[in-house]
Amino acid sequence: MLHFEMKKNVFIYTYGCQMNVHDSEKMIGRLSHEGYTEASKPEDADVLIFNTCAIRAKAEQKFYSQLGRAKILKKKKPGLKIAVAGCIAQDAKERLFRRAPHVDFSVGPQNIHLISDLLSEKIPRTSLQENPGIGTLEYDVKRADSIKAWISIMYGCNNFCTYCIVPYTRGREVSRPSSSVVSEVKDLVCKGYKEVTLLGQNVNSYRSDTDFADLLRKVHDTGISRIRFVTSHPRDLSHGLIRAMSELPNVCEHIHLPLQSGSDKILRLMNRGYDYLGYIEKIALLRENIPGIAVTTDIICGFPGENEDDYLLTVRALEEIGFDGIFAFNFSPRKGTKAAGMNDQIPEHIKTERLNNILKVQEHVTLEKNKLLEGTVHEILIEGLSETDSTMMTGRTRTNKIVNIPVVPEPAGTLLPVLIRLARLHSLTAEKISSLTDLV
Ligand code: 5AD
Ligand code: SF4
Repeated sequence: MLHFEMKKNVFIYTYGCQMNVHDSEKMIGRLSHEGYTEASKPEDADVLIFNTCAIRAKAEQKFYSQLGRAKILKKKKPGLKIAVAGCIAQDAKERLFRRAPHVDFSVGPQNIHLISDLLSEKIPRTSLQENPGIGTLEYDVKRADSIKAWISIMYGCNNFCTYCIVPYTRGREVSRPSSSVVSEVKDLVCKGYKEVTLLGQNVNSYRSDTDFADLLRKVHDTGISRIRFVTSHPRDLSHGLIRAMSELPNVCEHIHLPLQSGSDKILRLMNRGYDYLGYIEKIALLRENIPGIAVTTDIICGFPGENEDDYLLTVRALEEIGFDGIFAFNFSPRKGTKAAGMNDQIPEHIKTERLNNILKVQEHVTLEKNKLLEGTVHEILIEGLSETDSTMMTGRTRTNKIVNIPVVPEPAGTLLPVLIRLARLHSLTAEKISSLTDLV
């Protein structure tokens, strides 16, 4: 607790992936425990924390411009403390303080448990050391949602894809013991949570006292209604995992499986460890064993050496595989990664041209896929009132598609059978039915 001090208000800006969203929940949990309260806007805060993402230059620029605005706040309120957490903190090290002297503290993603010691100046102003003990840490998480929860099952990454900064910022792979994951899920079930998403950079290489397929079985035994996980690596996706997914009814029919490129040459340059044929074989196995499974992916446009033919192979892959959705971005060279130093960097305008076309092709594919759902019956987990239309409620199918239904008396957290009436690109419209086996 803070002794002899007034309660301090903290505001966290969060950028980047789900791990970061969850890391912010862990930091808020820790700080609440120490007597801090959460400010609803930056102007009310005594402490600003920026939980940053370094994956692409754009994410980095967004952070630095926001950090610039915080300088103005600090001028008005000289006691304001500014901490930078996350992947940029880890990557930039002392450079961060030279570039932004108004920053007081920095903490890397492997050391967020030290946030309160840092703010109370019990330890020096930077915590960027490797933390191999991260797997056994327990956090007092303050969750933003009361129905769906994030759960870390492993930290770090050993893959060294040549474009990616994550192995440098989040360190080597470390898995949490299964007993600790399971007791966290059990606690959530008691609190009324309906869904967990197991988090790791590469959940398929989870390895503690057991492997990932077995961890899924153990989590399933807790009785939690829905289980999801991100992110999977195509190379490490095992038959054992596919079997577990097909046998465990509460594991949702969705997998996010980053392809990155449809060209074997580019996949090799990226050090991905699979080729296109290997990838589509895994997709075929998934679809055979898990009927109706939704598959989403990540694509990088304009990786060094990507010529017109390589790019067309990616377009062909999108048409052939028929993903339910994709995240696609221009390749962004990250200092210190192998790809940043490769020959044959692609000009930005070509990357963008390819990206726009890829997004257009995928829009068509996604809409076609969604249209196939019209007239079918699904279970949705109600999340609450729609943010854009107060006559509608929003939920998600097990395949992770957003569904809007006219307001029903059932509260958020209810699993509800619905009939899909209309499919759009980003959402489906449906109506409540009495049971999943209703005749349509
Ligand atoms: N440039 C562009 N996209 C990247 N990703 C990771 N590193 C980069 C980079 N340097 C993308 C990959 C990954 C997703 C999380 O971000 O597609 O799967
Ligand atoms: Fe960004 Fe990657 Fe770090 Fe997540 S792990 S915050 S995506 S750089």
